Amino acid sequence: LTSERYPSLKRGPFAALNDTHVAAFQKILSADRILTDPDDVAPYNVDWIKTCCGQSRIVLRPRTTEELSAVMRICTEHRLAVCPQGGNTGLVGGSVPVFDEVIISTSLMNKINHIDPIAGTASCQAGVVLEKLESALEPEGLMIPYDLGARGSCQIGGNISTCAGGLRLLRYGSMQANTLGVEAVLADGTILNMMNSLKKDNTGYHLRQLFIGSEGTLGIVTQAVIQCPIRPKSTNLAFLSLNSFKDVLSTFVLAKRSLSETLSSCEMMDSACVTSVEEKLGIKCPLENSADSFFMIVETQGSREDHDAEKMSNFVQEAMAKELVVDGITANEPSRMANLWQLRERITESLSKDDYIFKYDITLPLAKFYEAVEVLRRELAPFGNEAKVTGFGHIGDGNLHLNVTASQYSEKLAKAIEPFVFEWTAGVGGSISAEHGMGFKKAKYLKYGKSPEAIKLMRNIKNSMDPLGILNPYKVLPPS
Ligand code: FAD
Ligand code: MLT
Ligand code: ZN
Repeated sequence: LTSERYPSLKRGPFAALNDTHVAAFQKILSADRILTDPDDVAPYNVDWIKTCCGQSRIVLRPRTTEELSAVMRICTEHRLAVCPQGGNTGLVGGSVPVFDEVIISTSLMNKINHIDPIAGTASCQAGVVLEKLESALEPEGLMIPYDLGARGSCQIGGNISTCAGGLRLLRYGSMQANTLGVEAVLADGTILNMMNSLKKDNTGYHLRQLFIGSEGTLGIVTQAVIQCPIRPKSTNLAFLSLNSFKDVLSTFVLAKRSLSETLSSCEMMDSACVTSVEEKLGIKCPLENSADSFFMIVETQGSREDHDAEKMSNFVQEAMAKELVVDGITANEPSRMANLWQLRERITESLSKDDYIFKYDITLPLAKFYEAVEVLRRELAPFGNEAKVTGFGHIGDGNLHLNVTASQYSEKLAKAIEPFVFEWTAGVGGSISAEHGMGFKKAKYLKYGKSPEAIKLMRNIKNSMDPLGILNPYKVLPPS
């Protein structure tokens, strides 16, 4: 088997699926949970932004940890490579096979085990969809400490495996901090139960961290315990337009100073992103959008409605008085806030709607944040209208989503962007992956994010946990 899309990549020394393997899987999973019809398998082979396509011939859908463990025993015995898949919303090609890897979907592992309102924890299987867990927590007065636009499809196991960041990391912290417990199945089928619900546990190596952000290359997450904060009584939002990126930075600083502990999100988008949502999705921006405008969403979450609304209003007035903000509106009714959030959350959807998208997810020192967009625009100027560079992201975390859209994939354009964008990012002291991971697309650029010594240690960890290399091959680590 060779991959048409990746002609220079060699398939690993794995078995090709045959009837004996399928018969072995049939002893573990009922027929309806083994998909082999090419029409049924097809959607699992393609990623969300339709830029990666595998050639798998089978999807396995276990319901329990024990079933998944038995599946992995068979895969180890026959040296079958596997690709774990959650909601398939990943943006770096990690969730779909590269060649013919067996797809293991966690979608049917969707049980919420237990919500503890006193400790503020939720224990669930890996395939629980983020939005479903959020709804189950609401009556208990709790919430998930992170949120992302893909909430209706992405799964807790996928969030853990990618170490997802999202819209409120600046307030509630990272997956590393909020994932208290993990259960994972290793390559040989071993079940590693670390379903801790404790906040503090310093019993040696923090093994669960190995599964947070390792994108299915070290084990398959089957269950987890998430720390859940108290649901805020009041949420307030400001949607702002600004004239320059310099003003965006000053407004961010003012937001931190004036809104202090209530600040729950601080996001920015450039004019081109907002125009894309307006034109492609028919959502109207309530503020004037000229070619050099910038927009921000500033959100607070707190416990006293009057006080929080007043604080937000004072902040917007001060930003206007200082002439940092051109125009702004505030909202606190859920439907109005949801409408405004669409202008931010649906940028990914709109940018990838008709075009091929090259996505870069980088962390930068704030002073360099928007320079990345300007530098890349200059670099791609020879492509004219064929390469449109846009920027938006989690300004509160220094995380820029840098995108290049074109009517179709072009090798020439790809080569003009990569490795330039990674070199530039590493050169200014940034990270080439802020929150999406390395997946398949960025694996070969790992050297821009890690030293040779660190990569060697990563390889040693991989080899000791997955000696046959069957877990999500071609992902995260560069080809050796
Ligand atoms: P998948 O896409 O199925 O898989 C992602 C990776 O994890 C793959 O490498 C896969 O093999 C592995 N994996 C999945 N499940 C498991 C498991 N149980 N055990 C081991 N490995 C597993 N990401 C952010 O960080 N912040 C955002 O704000 C954000 N917003 C997004 C908005 C949109 C509209 C979209 C489409 C994506 C967004 N993402 C964001 C990216 C994506 O949603 C996240 O990476 C998410 O965490 C992936 O979850 P998933 O269940 O879809 O995983
Ligand atoms: C977001 O913050 O909206 C996401 O990470 C998705 C993206 O980068 O496109
Ligand atoms: Zn993001």
